[in-house]
Amino acid sequence: MSKIRIALVVLLLWSILLTSFVSAQTRQSWTNTPEIERKVEALLKQMTLEEKIGQLNQYSYGMPTGPGTGRSKVEEAIQRGEIGSFLNVTDPALSNRLQHIAMEQSRLKIPLIFGLDVIHGYRTTFPVPLALSATWDPPLVQRVSRIAAEEATSSGIRWTFSPMVDIARDPRWGRIVEGAGEDPYLGSMMARAYVRGYQGENLNDAHSMAACAKHYVAYGAAEAGRDYNTVDMSERQLREVYLPPFHAAVDEGVATLMASFNSINGVPASANQFTLTQVLRGEWGFRGFVVSDWGSVGELIPHGVANDLATAARKGFLAGVDMDMESNAYFQHLAGIIKAGQVPQAALDQAVRRILRVKFALGLFDQPYVDEKNAVTTLPAANVAAARDAAEKSFVLLKNDAAMLPLQKGVRTVALIGPLADSAHDMLGAWSARGDAKDVVTLKAALEKRAERDGFRLIYAKGTEIRGTSDAGFADAAAAAAQADVVLLALGEDASWMTGEAASRAFIDLPGNQQQLLERVAAAGKPTALVLFSGRPLALTPAAARVNAIIEAWSPGVQAGPALERVLFGEAAPYGRLTVTFPRSLGQVPIYHSVLNTGRPPVGLDLTRPPTDSNEKFKSRYVDEQNVPLYPFGFGLTYTAFDYAAPQADAKEISVDQLNAGRAKLSITAEVKNTGPRRGEELVQLYIGLRGTSVARPVRQLKGFRRIALAPGESQRVEFTIGREELAIWQRDTTYAVEPGELSIWIAPNAQSGTAVTVQLR
Ligand code: NOJ
Repeated sequence: MSKIRIALVVLLLWSILLTSFVSAQTRQSWTNTPEIERKVEALLKQMTLEEKIGQLNQYSYGMPTGPGTGRSKVEEAIQRGEIGSFLNVTDPALSNRLQHIAMEQSRLKIPLIFGLDVIHGYRTTFPVPLALSATWDPPLVQRVSRIAAEEATSSGIRWTFSPMVDIARDPRWGRIVEGAGEDPYLGSMMARAYVRGYQGENLNDAHSMAACAKHYVAYGAAEAGRDYNTVDMSERQLREVYLPPFHAAVDEGVATLMASFNSINGVPASANQFTLTQVLRGEWGFRGFVVSDWGSVGELIPHGVANDLATAARKGFLAGVDMDMESNAYFQHLAGIIKAGQVPQAALDQAVRRILRVKFALGLFDQPYVDEKNAVTTLPAANVAAARDAAEKSFVLLKNDAAMLPLQKGVRTVALIGPLADSAHDMLGAWSARGDAKDVVTLKAALEKRAERDGFRLIYAKGTEIRGTSDAGFADAAAAAAQADVVLLALGEDASWMTGEAASRAFIDLPGNQQQLLERVAAAGKPTALVLFSGRPLALTPAAARVNAIIEAWSPGVQAGPALERVLFGEAAPYGRLTVTFPRSLGQVPIYHSVLNTGRPPVGLDLTRPPTDSNEKFKSRYVDEQNVPLYPFGFGLTYTAFDYAAPQADAKEISVDQLNAGRAKLSITAEVKNTGPRRGEELVQLYIGLRGTSVARPVRQLKGFRRIALAPGESQRVEFTIGREELAIWQRDTTYAVEPGELSIWIAPNAQSGTAVTVQLR
């Protein structure tokens, strides 16, 4: 063995040892029961080399969700114990048939585990994850994922490839839609909420699914937003921005992780010893298993770190990928590699242990089958109601000049214009599992019903196609607008082609000729609201200039229409806030709130002032665009208004030693007042900034948020506490410490407004 290989093996064995020690201290309750451990060891003892390797192979049955590969004659392979898992089996009869082969015809009767991308609902499609994050409501996300688990498990799916906890700061990247946006603090809260929902109180519950935090790691930082692209980043950024949501998921007890497609500083994530073993196992004590992404072990070849599949298998496996999704690399090569002594038996046993542990924890050995009669095929009314609630709460009101929204009850004629007004399929969004466009109530359908009930006239004109180039429909659209009291423009993206995996865009405007349609319609001069359906921030500057109101509706799911109608007519108030920054133009991308100040900030050093742009030369700015975004992180209006008084801290200075010892905390309060005409809810956000520290810190970092409800004229003093957890900075020796410096604290409605109070850390 080469020296490098020996070093790798030593590291691996070391991590195995450390894992058993560290895990006892984490909250992964399902992973550490002595009874499961005994069963795993007893089974492991009986397994042949081939049966062990069998557990590490996963194949797609039926529909592919990656470049076509697959395996034929899977029934015989199951009998021989060569397959541990399938993905993409959604028919419960098929899952039972395959499981019967495993349980009755294979020597050791080890159950298969069936996985699927249950990302935002199974039969009942909820808003896409980016929309769910805009609720800033982790309990809601937990409820939604619990419902998804209940529906999916009824078809035999006990493992979901969700949550995607990749931080994403580039709206070109199509998969920004699958995550919780740009911020690690919020992303971590959402990661926990998903895990709690999917895995429930107990993994053993027949309605619980193993969750899978993906894509480990830094996939969202793909250069230029192009899917699967290269990532090169500092360890600090990795640890402070991209790793935290994964760490949170692990801390919450997530059963599995998925290794990502991208490389990180030249080493593919699916062969990355540092992230997969040193951090995940060694530092975090993760005891579940890691699955590759689709074919990502085989892709070590095009990445250029393996010249054949055997080397890819060895590298992926030694780095810490336990299960091979669809590369067929472990199946074909692992036995040979182990026999040749290139991979230690102990490492194989450890990978098998991790997979068996999850299978035991799920109760699959005792309850391998699903009751086909109970499969959820039609949408349960309660789940539909939950889908409407989630959609309502995910909409973000970005603009509302002259209180155009909510629409007045007495409105007589409404024009509904645009290619998204009646596109059921696009409401489902990317990865809608067993979602069915037939279940969708579109905005047009909902408004038709309401028009009948309330006695107003609804004129509909499609205007153009989503990616249309013809203006043949413009005249009808303009005529509809001319006859109406108010215009609703339903514009946006083609959800399946432009959002999700392999759907990166080089332009982030309204697609096709929708902007031209918007301008034609706006020329009628009627109060016009844009209802935007998108899976990413779009560059809305030209659109915003022509309409009175904008509501970001994302891909809202099956209850798109009813949810929108309730918000548009004011039965529900806009509740969502942005979890991603909306740029003014593509040239600002990537753009996010927690930037460093640079040595030449356009706004000077006074970070307590809200940022304004300057035209000074020799500053970090564009000559042809502002630095500030169109709509900042955290932003969202509602049907009333709130005023924030300057925040107050309970101390002017605080001891760093005391903070580091966990003995001191700072209390920050601010008075928030409802100054508008209606009762409303406000999402009060806490941001901090640090200066004078050993490394430059972001101008602002989100560290807390709280929702309050106030009657008109009512005010409330909102309090946050700040301590070690909020202030500690990653040190190169991998510890975290609070450093002396100046702390600025904002309690504000978004990342770009408010005034700060400063406190000295001494
Ligand atoms: C590839 C995607 O990157 C991943 O998110 C998904 O879970 C797998 N395909 C399986 O469909």
